[in-house]
Amino acid sequence: MNATIRLQKYLAGCGVASRRKAEEIIVEGRVSVDGKVITAMGAQIDPATQEIRLDGKLVTAHDALLYILLNKPQGYVTTMSDPQGRPIVTSLLSGIKARLFPVGRLDLDTEGALILTNDGELAQKIQHPSYEVTKTYEAQVLGRPSEKMLQRLAQGILLEGKMTAPASLMLIARQSGTSSIRITIHEGRKRQVKKMFQAIGHPVVHLKRIAYGHLFLQGLATGKYRFLTPEDLKKIFIKKSLYKTINS
Ligand code: URA
Repeated sequence: MNATIRLQKYLAGCGVASRRKAEEIIVEGRVSVDGKVITAMGAQIDPATQEIRLDGKLVTAHDALLYILLNKPQGYVTTMSDPQGRPIVTSLLSGIKARLFPVGRLDLDTEGALILTNDGELAQKIQHPSYEVTKTYEAQVLGRPSEKMLQRLAQGILLEGKMTAPASLMLIARQSGTSSIRITIHEGRKRQVKKMFQAIGHPVVHLKRIAYGHLFLQGLATGKYRFLTPEDLKKIFIKKSLYKTINS
């Protein structure tokens, strides 16, 4: 498959520099594509067939550790293959040769923040309970859960024989027949958010993960992704809640 990618995005993706720094490097005339120096911004390249050099040295994606934040659309699976032939999240990444895998999972019908990387160590850290990496979701649930119900969820409820860890919850909007609630948890049990709301009698009708720690999706459109910087990675491990919630 021929997949082109903007030169600065490719350089950043190979871990050569941040996207902005990569642009400076290009303007400085330090980058060549198939032997020709490129100084114009926005040049499209095909890493599969073209030779990219920085200061004369070949740039490849093979060894670099890559970190991507994807805004997963509904209808994509977070496994590396699917026997039922449903679309897989990695098919949304273009021009990246490295074999990236998703950190954790999102249900088929859940959208939102999904980190993909080839750094097994970081992936493990994000998922290991001792790091208590928070995940924040916006859940649209049926009905109008009372303050008392939300308090119960915040304090922890019995799910499949085990108490859930304390969570932060905040009611953000009420629609006719549904309510939107922001919930932050640091556990990673399968379908945890849906099960928690189901347990209080308010099933989830729509679920979106908006952040890992303080790393938010912000303006990232559905189906789009961006490379993460070292500063972004630090934000994942900040534990303190950003906003005033029911248990803060
Ligand atoms: N909790 C869920 O119920 N589903 C998800 O996809 C993620 C968290």
